[in-house]
Amino acid sequence: MELLFVDACPRGEDSRTLALARHMLDRLTRALPDLCVTTHCLREMGLRDVNAERLAEKEALCDRQVWDAPLTRTGADFRRADAVLIAAPYWDLSFPSVLKTWVENIWVRNLTFVYQDNKPVGLARGRAAVYVTTSGSSMRGHDWGALYIEDVMKTLGIPDFLALRAEALDLDSSDPEAILAEARVRADKAAAWLRGRLVEE
Ligand SMILES: Cc1cc2nc3c(=O)[nH]c(=O)nc-3n(C[C@H](O)[C@H](O)[C@H](O)COP(=O)(O)O)c2cc1C
Repeated sequence: MELLFVDACPRGEDSRTLALARHMLDRLTRALPDLCVTTHCLREMGLRDVNAERLAEKEALCDRQVWDAPLTRTGADFRRADAVLIAAPYWDLSFPSVLKTWVENIWVRNLTFVYQDNKPVGLARGRAAVYVTTSGSSMRGHDWGALYIEDVMKTLGIPDFLALRAEALDLDSSDPEAILAEARVRADKAAAWLRGRLVEE
């Protein structure tokens, strides 16, 4: 059983989003000792955004079904995973741009999706995805980042999605430790939810 952990937290070890996601990951790996975790640390992967040259190269790889090239292997990891856990802080009403670059890298024709009747049909094997995020102020119900990632996951074939948020961490009136402690309780529930998706027949 394999989980793909996508660390899209630019502040690395200082990141509260990363800490919350790791808390969930810890609960999950304790509950499922056989779980194999593959990590995409977006601070270190050096993923390239798409330009005309790389687009043509990627299309040629998709035609030839070459899935171990730099432009396609991120998608191969994504397709193989039984579950996906994404951690990204709320930046500028969504998430850091490196996560969009990761999304561009997992859309791989003939690997993670095919076109049928002019529509993309997902080929990912995963059963569920969880998106963890934290914000400085209230998201006012507009978590565009989570909505977008949910649509990407579902379009690529992962049916179940859950978002875990800890909001308003940076307000003068806030008690960030209390907010994060409450979020860790919800992270425990999210881990149990994901475990249920992974073990169900
Ligand atoms: C570049 C940048 C953009 C941000 N944009 C927003 C925003 O649009 N709305 C918001 O509520 N907080 C915003 N914040 C605050 C972060 O969401 C908040 O501090 C979050 O908890 C950071 O997560 P981290 O500790 O995992 O890095 C932003 C912070 C940075 C550095």
